[in-house]
Amino acid sequence: MDSAANDLFRHICESAPDAIVVVDAAGRVVLVNARAVEMFGFPAGELVGSTVDILLPDALRPGHVQQRHAYMQHPSTRPMGTELQLFGRRRDGSEFPVEISLSPFQSGGATLVISILRDITERRRLEVEREQLRAVADMEKERQRIAMDLHDGIIQSIYAVGLNLESAKEDVKSRPDDAVKQVNRAIDRLNDTILDLRSYILDLRPPRYGGDLVDSLNGLVAEFHANSLIEPTLDVEPDLPALTEEQGRAIFHIAQEALNNARKHSRATQLFLRLRPVDGTLRLQIADNGSGFDPGADLPEEHRGMRNMLARAAAVGALLRVETALGAGTSVMVEIPVQTATGEPR
Ligand SMILES: Nc1ncnc2c1ncn2[C@@H]1O[C@H](COP(=O)(O)OP(=O)(O)OP(=O)(O)O)[C@@H](O)[C@H]1O
Ligand SMILES: [Mg+2]
Repeated sequence: MDSAANDLFRHICESAPDAIVVVDAAGRVVLVNARAVEMFGFPAGELVGSTVDILLPDALRPGHVQQRHAYMQHPSTRPMGTELQLFGRRRDGSEFPVEISLSPFQSGGATLVISILRDITERRRLEVEREQLRAVADMEKERQRIAMDLHDGIIQSIYAVGLNLESAKEDVKSRPDDAVKQVNRAIDRLNDTILDLRSYILDLRPPRYGGDLVDSLNGLVAEFHANSLIEPTLDVEPDLPALTEEQGRAIFHIAQEALNNARKHSRATQLFLRLRPVDGTLRLQIADNGSGFDPGADLPEEHRGMRNMLARAAAVGALLRVETALGAGTSVMVEIPVQTATGEPR
């Protein structure tokens, strides 16, 4: 290379916005540019001749020695640790996130590795900031939704109660019987409003599967009790076979939807859940004494609950049966095959 080209390359290298660190096969630094000196805070003279590992956080050094050797067996041009967050270490011990690309270079029979390093502190900071802004925007959207729901639903109901009481006040002397009716209507409406509020709160905080089916069902039943007029009971046989996390979760979500349906549609006064082993399966039954429904009726697409229950059951190899008829209550049964300790179905 003539000297003009040499000067040009030196200039490109020195003015590059990224740090350039050239390392030999043994991992010793043979060349650095001005940006590398600035980025790591080591004088060039101290860097050249040292192993490149001094530019890494202490904890990563042992692993890096091995990775360096492995890279040298099959050197190629590639970004370093695409799945990892990489960090560099300055001379003063402080660390910063970097992006590194490697490319091998043959020089006089020896292999050198050119590493180009970019300090991505600023990019990371912007990413974190963007995440925080997104979270704030989501919260604001949620806040507006809650405000709107409360305004349209709950406040309207309470307003109507106010009107009832208003007219009861006018009637109280001249038509006391009417006044009593108005007051009773106001009480009923307030009770309905409390139920609405409770189920609204329930929707905001849906109970989650906690990893143990019986515990989670107990939680579900307790919430159901607090938020409906129906008396639920949960009957669990002792020594139940164990379920996998996936099976437990599926059964839990089926129970959750069955309870939602009972609360929304059944007008039942009683409901029981029963969990017991039956013929090599674990069976959960959820039955109410409410209105029942016509199981043959075609349902428009937007009714997702039953379809979801079937899909959840099928996904874990369970069988779902719904027994119901108009006026005869509803029983949802899900049976999931269970394994014995030897792995054989019971
Ligand atoms: N326990 C029940 N008692 C009475 N009717 C029920 C009961 N469970 C379900 N139903 C009837 O079956 C229909 C279908 O239930 P499904 O869960 O699929 O839809 P949804 O509850 O109407 O809507 P979604 O679940 O999508 O909010 C209900 O609309 C209701 O008419
Ligand atoms: Mg439903």
